[in-house]
Amino acid sequence: MIKILGIESSCDDTSAAVICDRVLLSNVIASQKVHEKYGGVIPELASRMHQQNIIPVVDTAFKEANVTKNDLDAIAYTGGPGLMGSLLVGVSFARGLAASIGVPLIEVNHLQGHVLSLFLEEEGKEKAFPSLPFLCLLVSGGHTQIIVVKDYLDFEITGSTIDDAAGEAFDKCAKVMGLPYPGGPVIDALAKTGNPDAFSFAKPKVADLNYSFSGLKTSFLYFLQKKVAENPAFIEENKADLCASIQKTIIDVLMDKLIKAAAKTGINDVAIAGGVSANSGLIERLQQNGNKYGWNVFVPERRFTTDNAAMIAITGYFKYKKSLFSSFDARQLAKIGSQFGIIIYLCGEIIKVIIKINMS
Ligand code: KG4
Ligand code: ZN
Repeated sequence: MIKILGIESSCDDTSAAVICDRVLLSNVIASQKVHEKYGGVIPELASRMHQQNIIPVVDTAFKEANVTKNDLDAIAYTGGPGLMGSLLVGVSFARGLAASIGVPLIEVNHLQGHVLSLFLEEEGKEKAFPSLPFLCLLVSGGHTQIIVVKDYLDFEITGSTIDDAAGEAFDKCAKVMGLPYPGGPVIDALAKTGNPDAFSFAKPKVADLNYSFSGLKTSFLYFLQKKVAENPAFIEENKADLCASIQKTIIDVLMDKLIKAAAKTGINDVAIAGGVSANSGLIERLQQNGNKYGWNVFVPERRFTTDNAAMIAITGYFKYKKSLFSSFDARQLAKIGSQFGIIIYLCGEIIKVIIKINMS
């Protein structure tokens, strides 16, 4: 049984999780509310909050999992992509802890983590897992990709956004309507009572399986500016319809390319992952398309859609099985340290001899 501590600190969530093989024992997330009033993540504030949160979050993850640091076989941490200052807090903490207890370190790619969250197991819960190879639409605040997952650690990106991510489109459209950050969940909630066909917006035309969302955001902004000039209460009076319509447009764009990817690859197991995969409209449409095209569809549990350390721990588990340890593995560092010590000692001895020769 392999026990791994996962640490995630790439953006504005400080999270720690413990898994035993693929079974999740704990997953603690401290979300930073401080950014809400700025309408987006402030990197400097995020790294300071990570510094404050990391020790209590890890401590709680150990307690909830009923383990101590000495039970760990490895520590997995998010190496990127993410905010540099935020990542550094997690990386430094992971390195320090791994060195102090003498276990290997595993560097995890955040995006790979989102996808592999689909393989987390939980005590007493029956779950279905995608069969390899499967297609995964990864939709988060920073990325939008269609991935062919050939093996747990063998991904081929077949389509990607050329500008904004889908989550960014949700957040920016919410912002121009005066909704709080992050806007994705707020639009999702308001859309439930709105008419998705009330307004229509031009969909981007991008080659192959790629996406573009920056034009949509701009056309939404111009549309609102025009309407508000005619009627200052336009947004307030049409909020639910606006949310439902922009959400439908984003989902149409996402699904169009996913359907093409499934047809092109002939793959029938289709999954979604990342923060936007919590969107109720997207999940519903994925299920509808699953019925229509004969796909087996997979959606991560809601609490694993947005940033969390459970996804880092499970990816760490798959990497551990292949001995894919970070180059900053504590044991390697110790080895390098001792080799370095020998070199320094030898240099000192040589200098002493040179001084002696010069003096004589
Ligand atoms: O994966 P994530 O937590 O962070 C990144 O790696 O980027 O994704 C955050 C994004 C935000 O843009 C947020 O608005 C969006 O996921 N999001 C949603 C929903 N929940 C979170 N978007 C639409 N509907 C939701 N229910
Ligand atoms: Zn993420």
